[in-house]
Amino acid sequence: MPKSPPVIAIDGPSGSGKGTVAQILARELGWHFLDSGAIYRILAYAAQQRGIPLDAPTQLAELARNLPVTFSPIDAKIRLEEVDIKDEIRTEAAGNAASKVAAIPAVRVALLERQRAFRAGPGLVADGRDMGTVVFPDAEVKVFLTASAEERARRRYNQLIEKGLDANLAALVADIAERDHRDATRSVAPLKPADGAEIVDTSDLDIAQTVACVRDLVRRRLDV
Ligand code: C5P
Repeated sequence: MPKSPPVIAIDGPSGSGKGTVAQILARELGWHFLDSGAIYRILAYAAQQRGIPLDAPTQLAELARNLPVTFSPIDAKIRLEEVDIKDEIRTEAAGNAASKVAAIPAVRVALLERQRAFRAGPGLVADGRDMGTVVFPDAEVKVFLTASAEERARRRYNQLIEKGLDANLAALVADIAERDHRDATRSVAPLKPADGAEIVDTSDLDIAQTVACVRDLVRRRLDV
């Protein structure tokens, strides 16, 4: 059987910097990029639009199997039935709704193949919670990025303020703690480092330092 294209799996809690790092790395390498969190966000958004409750496993799994979504690498748009919803799925409420649908086992199964389909030559950088543990257990490089809840809330706060949106630091810390707890204690694919993952604490690192650190890890394992 021909060898599958290589995967760099970057997992960790929200605010650890993994999304930004994964995107920069994918661009540098000229590889494909999977933002798996976006898929859960889109599913929750689509469910809410259709009046499907976020705790209805059968209906949500059915929707997950048939989600009419397209990702466009050219203009970075995410379209649900031709409508660009990139901004709508980035809110705190959308993140929380995503973590609710993501806790449902049938939903995760329904989305497995969809995520694996992103694996294509010359390679894939995949960002999420279970890239190294469940979706790509054979990934060539596994990295688990983390940072303290306070530091992650501070980053989120700065992002929201920069976008001109309202933000409350104490509420963000509470929100992040709640989401971490749900992600880490759910019965399927809980958030945890994969066996053999390199754990990087980014609390005291900026994005450039984090990218440099992950790039070093990648180069130690792959000839890129
Ligand atoms: O990474 P992001 O914040 O966009 O993810 C939103 C939510 O989707 C997470 O809080 C998590 O519950 C869920 N998720 C997941 N598995 C992934 C990616 C995201 O369960 N691989």
